[in-house]
Amino acid sequence: MRYDLPVAQLLLPDADGITQAAALLRAGGLVAFPTETVYGLGANAFSALAVARIFAAKGRPYFDPLIVHVADPGEAARLWADVPPLAKKLMEKFWPGPLTLVLPKREIIPDIVTAGLPTVAVRMPSHPVALELIRLSKVPIAAPSANRFGRLSPTHHEAVLEQLGEAIDAVIAGGPTPVGIESTVISLAEDPPRLLRPGGTPIEALREFIPHLRIEPPCGPSASPGTMPRHYRPSTPLFLLASGLPTGGEALPRAKCGFLAFQKAWDGFAQVEVLSERGDLVEAASSLFAALRRLDRAGLRAIVAEPVPEEGLGLAIMDRLRRASSGQARLDETHVWVVR
Ligand code: TXA
Ligand code: MG
Repeated sequence: MRYDLPVAQLLLPDADGITQAAALLRAGGLVAFPTETVYGLGANAFSALAVARIFAAKGRPYFDPLIVHVADPGEAARLWADVPPLAKKLMEKFWPGPLTLVLPKREIIPDIVTAGLPTVAVRMPSHPVALELIRLSKVPIAAPSANRFGRLSPTHHEAVLEQLGEAIDAVIAGGPTPVGIESTVISLAEDPPRLLRPGGTPIEALREFIPHLRIEPPCGPSASPGTMPRHYRPSTPLFLLASGLPTGGEALPRAKCGFLAFQKAWDGFAQVEVLSERGDLVEAASSLFAALRRLDRAGLRAIVAEPVPEEGLGLAIMDRLRRASSGQARLDETHVWVVR
């Protein structure tokens, strides 16, 4: 039996709660907080020791660098060696919001934050609780998504408590996060700039300002270590519905499987989650991780996910579904056929 494991303090997203959270951060603690994308697990970015606790709590490998969160563009300028005109323009246009920019770092950022890379990823979130927390802490906050390594990103404080409740000091109970999918990460440290992770800021919007943005996968394992093929995994195996899959594979009864649908429910499954009845990709992104979490807890043999159109936030949704998947699936009247 487990008796005396300390459980994270649940703080309200009001002035008192945020003040307490800021004090914990300044004292080297770990605090999970809402952003507009997903919950972050924050520590003082200037303290190597506090940041080391993030990696321990998440079970995250040290080669995977963290995003540093700031409350205004001026603060970002103090972390980067230089702010090129394109960075200024992107900050003006997209901050605060779900866009992370990677540029060469200054000494002041400890190496553990960037996993030894010469660059640092920075973003200014738009969630008022996150902004107030950064302001009151008076330091930039290093924060990955507040999940155990490789698992689903939390879009609600309860999901944080479930995964990390015994490993961190506090969670700010901010309820559901509006965007629901992580920020778009782009590197301005190379020419032309490169998309490292599709996310909450659509590529189409970025292309207006960076027409030459490269979106092919990064060369070499360390270009963006977090963009590993297996990530964002539910515990129940997930299979992407594929047309034209040859017959064969393993047959699972539909009635023992779940279905993650884009617009309309499908028959015969034990549980179905519809991401957006009106086919809105923004709404679909905001429901994705919570829907996967519900399916994951339903005791199913497998989850079948229907692809969504790869435009706007659909690019980020498909990126997460591919990483979450163990293989492909096709359907007949009674069964799901899966190929790992
Ligand atoms: O929306 C978000 O971005 C959330 C919230 C909490 O802000 N954070 C988040 O952090 O998703 P995380 O650690 O789960 O993902 C950070 C991504 C990883 O893919 C990591 O490899 C990449 O950013 N990254 C961080 N620093 C980098 C750097 N210096 N160079 C290249 N990629 C970097
Ligand atoms: Mg993450």
